[in-house]
Amino acid sequence: MPHSSDPMSNTTTQDAASSNTDSSAAQKVPHEAVSQPVLHAEKLAKRVTSGERTLTILHDLSLSVAAGESVAILGKSGAGKSTLLGLLAGLDTPSDGELTLFGHALSRLDEDGRAALRAGRVGFVFQNFQLLPTLSALENVLLPLELSPRAGETRTAQQWLERVGLGERTSHQPKQLSGGEQQRVAIARAFVTDPELVFADEPTGNLDPDTGAQIIDLLFTLNKEAGTTLILVTHDHALARRCDRCLRLTNGQLVPFEPAPANSGEGDE
Ligand SMILES: Nc1ncnc2c1ncn2[C@@H]1O[C@H](COP(=O)(O)OP(=O)(O)O)[C@@H](O)[C@H]1O
Ligand SMILES: [Mg+2]
Repeated sequence: MPHSSDPMSNTTTQDAASSNTDSSAAQKVPHEAVSQPVLHAEKLAKRVTSGERTLTILHDLSLSVAAGESVAILGKSGAGKSTLLGLLAGLDTPSDGELTLFGHALSRLDEDGRAALRAGRVGFVFQNFQLLPTLSALENVLLPLELSPRAGETRTAQQWLERVGLGERTSHQPKQLSGGEQQRVAIARAFVTDPELVFADEPTGNLDPDTGAQIIDLLFTLNKEAGTTLILVTHDHALARRCDRCLRLTNGQLVPFEPAPANSGEGDE
């Protein structure tokens, strides 16, 4: 499923450097025009207010991720990892700072513009799968293609379910599937648009170790085969070791992190 199947890659009229606040600008940027990092975060901050208190979750956080890179983000529960992933994926907006995705400063796009930029180019795998319960596996995988339509989409969705080993389960609803099977559906959904950038927030957090290992193998296989940039949150040092780069989120900032070596009796981060 090459990138060239993406209708956006056939459009070469828009200069990636030119900014625009309307959503159509985001749709006109070809994949190959991006020579800068896939993602660049500059001095991001996230503050939330509850009642009288303001909680600073992230501050002065900068990060650049190159195309094809795999990056692990570790950190204690409550450190702000999910908040950070939501910001980096453009699902949430920062209190301060700037996020540039595929060469586009997100602050210059409205919500529709951000959605158009993400559509087909960003995939997200959640810890709790987040499948729609009333839809079949196939219908769940088809969902992102409604935002990024392309020819033969049912066949493409079917192929992705086969790719993750669920070719015989396409008409099952999530409640008829095991946790590992549901996460595989979620991975098929994240990859069905052939995205350049995939986020995974503790993708094995709700799975037993064997099933988790299969899911991780699958994510890295897809990362290598399709050149997909992978940014994942994990507590698992074995998983972190497989990434090109590891970072730890602590006190609202990212610092370089060296995962424990194999067979060291490592604990969870
Ligand atoms: N919208 C919000 N309002 C108030 N507190 C929040 C909000 N979002 C996150 N938090 C708090 O921010 C901290 C970081 O949350 P989160 O990003 O989910 O951490 P992690 O994924 O590392 O466990 C937690 O203390 C959480 O309760
Ligand atoms: Mg989290």
